[in-house]
Amino acid sequence: MKKLAPSILAADFSNLSQQLRYIEIGGADVVHCDIMDGKFVPNITFGTVVVKAVSKTTKLPIDVHLMIENPDNFIEDFVKAGASYISVHQEEVVHLHRTIARIKELGAKAGVVINPATPVSTLSDILEFVDFVLVMSVNPGFGGQKFIPSTLNKIKQLAKIRKEKELSFEIEIDGGVTSENIKDILNAGCDMFVAGSSVFAQDNISAATTELKNLIS
Ligand code: DX5
Ligand code: ZN
Repeated sequence: MKKLAPSILAADFSNLSQQLRYIEIGGADVVHCDIMDGKFVPNITFGTVVVKAVSKTTKLPIDVHLMIENPDNFIEDFVKAGASYISVHQEEVVHLHRTIARIKELGAKAGVVINPATPVSTLSDILEFVDFVLVMSVNPGFGGQKFIPSTLNKIKQLAKIRKEKELSFEIEIDGGVTSENIKDILNAGCDMFVAGSSVFAQDNISAATTELKNLIS
C-alpha cells in the first residue's frame, strides 16, 4: 500500500489536535514530524515534547525525520515519545550501520535520508539493513520549497536496486510534493509521500489529503 505522510511542519500548531483530526478524516496513513536543530539545517522546529503530544492525539504511526547533529543521542527519546519510523541523514551519521541497528533494536522502522546532492551510490552497503530510504527532493530545513525534478531519478535507481537485489526497503520522498507532481513520483517507484504545504496550507485540509491519497491509490 502506498502511504501519504502529511508533515505537520506546515500545520497550525495552535490547533494541532484538530489539524491531526483533519488529516485522519482525509485518509492520511502516517504523520511526518520534522526535527530540526538549527545546526544540521538552518532552522529550529520541535522535539520529543511535541512528538509525544502528537502520539497522544492520533492513532496514526509517527515518522520522525531527524535533521539534527548527533542523532544517536536522541533516538531512544523519540521512540519513547511514540515514533514508529525514524530516519537519520547519511551526511550526518558516521557509523550508519550501528545507528540503523539501534533504531531497529528499539522497535522502530529504521530509515536513511539523502540530501539532493548526495548520490544513491553512497547507500550501496546499507540498503540491505534499512527499512526505508528517504529521498530529499528539496534541501532540508524549510517547508514550501520547489520540488527538484532530478531527484525522480534517485527513486528510479533505488527501485531498480531493490528489484535486482531482492530487497524490501520502502522508498519515501520529502519536499515540494504536490497534486501536480505526485503521479510522476509514484510512477518512479515511490511508496511513501511526505506533503507539508500541499496538505496543511490548503483551505480544506481533509479534502487536500484525500486528493493526494487518491492520486497514489
Ligand atoms: C523539509 C522537511 C519536509 C517539509 C516538507 O526540510 O523535511 O518534511 O515539511 O514540506 P513541503 O511539503 O511544504 O515541501
Ligand atoms: Zn521531512
